[in-house]
Amino acid sequence: AEYETILVEKRGRVTLVTLNRPKALNALNSQILADLLAAMADFDADDSQGCAVLTGSEKAFAAGADIKEMQGQGFAEMYASNFFAGWEDFTRTRKPVIAAVAGYALGGGCEVAMMCDFILAADTAKFGQPEIKLGVSPGMGGSQRLTRAVGKAKAMEMCLTGRMMDAEEAERAGLVSRIIPATDLVEEAVKVATAIAEMPPLAVKANKEMVNAAYETTLQQGVQFERRLFHGLFGTEDQSEGMAAFVEKRPGKWTGK
Ligand code: HXC
Repeated sequence: AEYETILVEKRGRVTLVTLNRPKALNALNSQILADLLAAMADFDADDSQGCAVLTGSEKAFAAGADIKEMQGQGFAEMYASNFFAGWEDFTRTRKPVIAAVAGYALGGGCEVAMMCDFILAADTAKFGQPEIKLGVSPGMGGSQRLTRAVGKAKAMEMCLTGRMMDAEEAERAGLVSRIIPATDLVEEAVKVATAIAEMPPLAVKANKEMVNAAYETTLQQGVQFERRLFHGLFGTEDQSEGMAAFVEKRPGKWTGK
């Protein structure tokens, strides 16, 4: 499908989605949300695709929600339309989505990166929640996900001052999994995504679900959830094949069943 505000390209089993509103530094308006949700639904439904990469431009992953779109809105309109609630659907993508962030990931941009399963950062990446400078606050989960990712002290400081974190600090704080030279970012992210896409698909979904459960449950419930999913994987063809392949010293061939 063709979209107005994003580019979608299949690279083998990897769907590469590029935010593409360069003149607005990829500011996230309702069209980007609609395009992204449609692309993610296609990706989830397509058995030939195993992992997605979400990226922006060299200068900006995304410089936030579209300020010009929000500017004239009042409380009644925001509340009635449940503004930003649609972004929750993005987090319901069942296959993994990697954020490949170069340049600015500010406000909603930082929040969307954090909605992805993990973040690979270019050495040029800059993360921040500057909404306070506009008289508002994070509105797409930033105050919650940033706090869980980097702890209260850094999250509070960033939300209250709007200061940006560079890639080094973000890696030290645990916001990003790795730093990659900007020129290699997308290629490396596609490589990582390809490795994931070649894993047994049911095990991929199960691993994603259980790591996410760590954010939502107590330790005891999370460990129980993990163990039950683990038991469940013993009902799959890919478990039989994976263990047989190991014993027979050959690569596994997955059916996704
Ligand atoms: C709409 C944006 C935008 C945004 C940039 N642009 N960010 N438009 N919404 N979030 C537009 C600019 O208006 C400008 O358009 C063009 O993109 C280039 O931006 P410049 O500012 O000229 O670029 P530069 O000087 O390089 O500065 C880059 C920047 C700055 C530091 C990233 O653009 C900036 O501070 N942007 C806003 C960051 C921010 O506050 N994000 C949080 C948004 S609120 P023109 O037409 O002038 O060329 C948010 C809210 C979530 O995300 C919840 C709140 C309710």
